[in-house]
Amino acid sequence: MAASGQARCRPPAGRPHRGGAALTDTSPSGQPVSSRPPAGRSACGQAAVGRPSWLIRRLVRSDLADLRPLRLQALRAHPEAFGISFEEEQAEDTGRLIAEPPGMMLGGFVAGRLVGCAAVLVPSRIKQRHKGHVVSVYVASDSRRTGLARALMEALIRHARCIGLLSLTLSVTVGNESARQLYLRAGFRSCGVEPASLRIGADLFDEELMVLTLSNPAADADAPRDHPY
Ligand SMILES: CC(C)(COP(=O)(O)OP(=O)(O)OC[C@H]1O[C@@H](n2cnc3c(N)ncnc32)[C@H](O)[C@@H]1OP(=O)(O)O)[C@@H](O)C(=O)NCCC(=O)NCCS
Repeated sequence: MAASGQARCRPPAGRPHRGGAALTDTSPSGQPVSSRPPAGRSACGQAAVGRPSWLIRRLVRSDLADLRPLRLQALRAHPEAFGISFEEEQAEDTGRLIAEPPGMMLGGFVAGRLVGCAAVLVPSRIKQRHKGHVVSVYVASDSRRTGLARALMEALIRHARCIGLLSLTLSVTVGNESARQLYLRAGFRSCGVEPASLRIGADLFDEELMVLTLSNPAADADAPRDHPY
């Protein structure tokens, strides 16, 4: 299901997605990339208030040199928001974060600098490949409240629909209100709390599990498939 859906969603090679005209740019690897601002925002992100526009594209292995410091920065600043420790991440290959298709990791760029990311992982097991798990959601502190995380989530959700996923799940640490509000705004709903899900030293953190139901496959059968990633 996912594989055929993905093929139908893919734009012709070498042509930016039509929605990206305002923000089309060239990736470090020279491939065309594109983005568009979230609904309701100006055509160039925050240009209306003089802030730089952001651009979103799929991350590839050549982005790892930029992704690694961003990831370490996230874990150092917000250890309670992620399931892996700073020390573990330092010791591991950042390449594992570049989600295997049909999963995907997106990056958000401001003035060519990678400042945000979000990924969806899709299990390979037959009984689970109809759903995706959202991980690694992060925006650098100097780029927050510009709508970048919202745009990353919207792009991930479009991709998930496009490849035929029926739902997305994620977990958010109880007390992380900025992330929780982001997910609620994106349509996720709470489906329970796992007590003491994370332990950092002597501190225990509960995690709220959230789910976004994407579609009724029958109702969506004729829906247009149009996605830049
Ligand atoms: C959570 C995070 C990704 C939000 O990034 P952002 O780019 O600032 O978010 P956006 O500007 O796109 O905001 C989208 C929505 O998120 C919510 N939100 C974001 N920051 C918020 C804050 N400080 N307080 C309350 N709500 C907030 C709002 O609902 C907002 O919509 P609105 O602007 O219409 O009110 C960012 O704060 C971050 O990286 N935090 C640390 C890491 C983290 O917690 N990651 C999530 C792990 S589950």
